[in-house]
Amino acid sequence: MINFQALSETYGTPLYIYNFDHITERYNALKEAFRAKKSLICYAVKANSNLSVVKHLGDLGAGCDCVSIGEVQRAFLAGVPSYKIIFSGVGKKDEELKEAIEKDILMINLESEAELARVEIQAKALGKVARISIRVNPNIDPKTHPYISTGLSSNKFGVDIEDAKRMYIKAKNSEFLDPVGIHFHIGSQLTELEPIRESSELVADLVRNLKVLDINLKFFDIGGGLGIKYKNEELIKPYDYAQAIFSTLTTLDVTIMCEPGRFLVGESGYFLTKVLYEKTNGDKRFVIVDGAMNDLIRPALYNAYHQIEVLEKEDNISLADVVGPVCESGDFFAKDIEIPATEHNDLIIIKAAGAYCYTMSSNYNTRGKVAEVALEDGKDRLIRKRETFDDMIALEKEFIQ
Ligand code: LLP
Repeated sequence: MINFQALSETYGTPLYIYNFDHITERYNALKEAFRAKKSLICYAVKANSNLSVVKHLGDLGAGCDCVSIGEVQRAFLAGVPSYKIIFSGVGKKDEELKEAIEKDILMINLESEAELARVEIQAKALGKVARISIRVNPNIDPKTHPYISTGLSSNKFGVDIEDAKRMYIKAKNSEFLDPVGIHFHIGSQLTELEPIRESSELVADLVRNLKVLDINLKFFDIGGGLGIKYKNEELIKPYDYAQAIFSTLTTLDVTIMCEPGRFLVGESGYFLTKVLYEKTNGDKRFVIVDGAMNDLIRPALYNAYHQIEVLEKEDNISLADVVGPVCESGDFFAKDIEIPATEHNDLIIIKAAGAYCYTMSSNYNTRGKVAEVALEDGKDRLIRKRETFDDMIALEKEFIQ
């Protein structure tokens, strides 16, 4: 049982709280599911890039999937070795590519022919060989929210199978590129296995075709995307996930890589916020809390559902919107939910807030980013300080004229 009251007294609100023991369980469950083959879990740092979270996963043995050189730097700082770091993303700057090659990371995931050319130029300039992988867009509908669907031709991600083949041949013929992997990622918060299996089959066929051309890929990267429980979703079980992938690989001798973010950290997290007051406009009831859309934007951005609990209150339940103080009608955590009558300083817990919550937060309305706390072995510790006003203005103050 988490003592939210005590945590709010120690660290204040709003507050993010992550249960590291839960992250460990999730990591171990996934690793165990893939036990029959060589595998590497590369945590998708974008889900929650707090250095202590990345270090926790790194200590368990995870690598990192990074989408900017900043994330690569975080992985290094957290002690993750270069040979477990991959760099993905649809657009990378020359400086980022240069640094990734210099740092000798495991591989760079390419998403276009133009990018292949840029990597080759950078590698040549450094007199080094860049290990690459190509992200294939299998054009399969992942059946998730359109904003987090990535495996259709209409999405900007990856290249189609034919283009990928041409790129592999180019890479093989280049002195400065070493094609070592293949990659697909069809979307996030996936709850259906079949689109993943189908994609894996298509991509595995390409790996077999490439073998004939003497292009032998070592890493088969199945992306991330495993869904978690926000409401009452039927989830993909790690065992079934692994078996579905195995069934498409049969005789291929590859290391399976995956890039889960949400699955590892999502359900470990809680966003703790305090009731400021209630009000009614006509018959509409609002519970106004001290957290806001700048702290946790998923409801506003995707109409995402996050379960909400009022701590130790059960009476006088009626419909209300739970909203923050930001000057936008989109600033809500929930709309028309059944919620007990609340009073000033009651605590509200917003669940499954470990992934894409803190990392998508901003300073909108000059609200400082909130503090983050880890729970591990029955103890709590601060893993990021609350931002102060001085922190927020540090990079602009000197320019006032
Ligand atoms: N690999 C690649 C190439 C990705 O683009 C992503 C997520 C992942 C791995 C990790 O996916 P996960 O296992 O966490 O589903 N902000 C959105 C989610 C965006 C996901 C972007 N890519 C949200 O709040 O739902």
